[in-house]
Amino acid sequence: MAEDKPTDDSKELNDAAVNGDQPSKPVKRKSGARLLLLLAGIVVLAFAIAVVGYDYFAGTANKSSTSTSTSSGPSVGGPFELVGQDGKTVTEKDFDGKYMMIYFGYTYCPDVCPTALSDMATALDAIDPEKAAKVQPIFISVDPARDTPEHLAEYVSFFHPRLIGLTGSEKQVKEAARAYRVFYRIGEPQSDDPQDYLVDHTSIIYLVGPDGKLVTHFSHGTTPEAMAERLGKLL
Ligand code: NI
Repeated sequence: MAEDKPTDDSKELNDAAVNGDQPSKPVKRKSGARLLLLLAGIVVLAFAIAVVGYDYFAGTANKSSTSTSTSSGPSVGGPFELVGQDGKTVTEKDFDGKYMMIYFGYTYCPDVCPTALSDMATALDAIDPEKAAKVQPIFISVDPARDTPEHLAEYVSFFHPRLIGLTGSEKQVKEAARAYRVFYRIGEPQSDDPQDYLVDHTSIIYLVGPDGKLVTHFSHGTTPEAMAERLGKLL
């Protein structure tokens, strides 16, 4: 979900609210109110799009727990079988005994994935190095058609020296995403080039414990500082 800018929308809404509060002629107030309604509608829609993946996740996790931040709900995560940067099969067992910090996305993502990955890297670099060393940061592509192992290897190196990229067959990626309650949808081509498309996807960073169970997740927009603080306490 790369193209939503809730902040800008809320600013517009605030501006509209200020205008609507100004004493003016009834006609103007009415059109002001209409504008406000319209803007409110846009904000609600943008917000709904922004959190659709999160709701998908939270809706499931909330059935038995009011907190989505603990592993007490129904299982999120679990076994996966993917393909590593060297083209070899990688499963969750390869990270046994380590924490995994997992983010699903795609390398052609215009801004959401780069932001999340760079925040994740910043947070890891901000905590005690001994704690950081317990964590394997992992980027899982939801766009295996374009994200080859070689391409992923180059991409992840821009963010963090220890970040690894995993991809796989369509089926493998689908199953891994399902396990983590990650929603994604390949968009229509934006030009004559069939490879020119965006991918809608959930933007959540998962922290999985050495036992393979979900420890917590970081919602999109969590600052690196807040992430580092929570990681420092959890690791
Ligand atoms: Ni993205």
